[in-house]
Amino acid sequence: MRKINLGVLASGRGSNLQSIIDATERGEVDAEVRIVISNNSKAYALERARNHNIAAVHLSHKQFESGDAFDDALIEMLKKHGVELVVLAGYMKLISPKVCEAYRHRILNIHPALLPSFGGKGMYGMHVHEAVIESGAKISGLTVHIVDEQYDHGPIVLQKTVPVRDDDDPDSLAARILPEEHKMYPEAIQLFAEGKIRVEGRRVYTT
Ligand code: GRF
Repeated sequence: MRKINLGVLASGRGSNLQSIIDATERGEVDAEVRIVISNNSKAYALERARNHNIAAVHLSHKQFESGDAFDDALIEMLKKHGVELVVLAGYMKLISPKVCEAYRHRILNIHPALLPSFGGKGMYGMHVHEAVIESGAKISGLTVHIVDEQYDHGPIVLQKTVPVRDDDDPDSLAARILPEEHKMYPEAIQLFAEGKIRVEGRRVYTT
């Protein structure tokens, strides 16, 4: 099967990026990471890309006079590398309407909880797991969704539950969810590569 070209946007350590690269290199996903872009020049994700001879680019709003100029540069960079699917992997910036429009239904995000709960602005990193534990929920999980103009809001592609244990703290809960992310994100990308993701309103059909 033809491989689709991925562009990964990441702000931090990039463990999900790594799992995607590994899955593509093992041939489990019909895709190739063509470029990794980070708003953070020190992101370890960029290092991981370089280690695999993948283009690694620091692109930040701070380098541009306007949000619009940033958007144009981002879209141009993605197009230049033939990116067909944009994968957010711990990317801390909101995707603008212009970029959403340019890649409508072709941007994925992963979130370490069961959306539509425990998502939205400020719900990132350990804040998510803290909120889940404080809520008293017995179940958390992970979600892969299509990105729209709002944080953690677009149509849901895949979800999996993970138990919250009585003795959990945010770190232990995160540690139970992260390995599941590393499995689920490549699965979602493969669904996309196989043309199996069909969006109708807020519902995604994958068969
Ligand atoms: C993950 O927990 C992911 O769900 C969230 O940000 C974290 C990124 O971790 N969106 P990493 O940079 O992929 O290790």
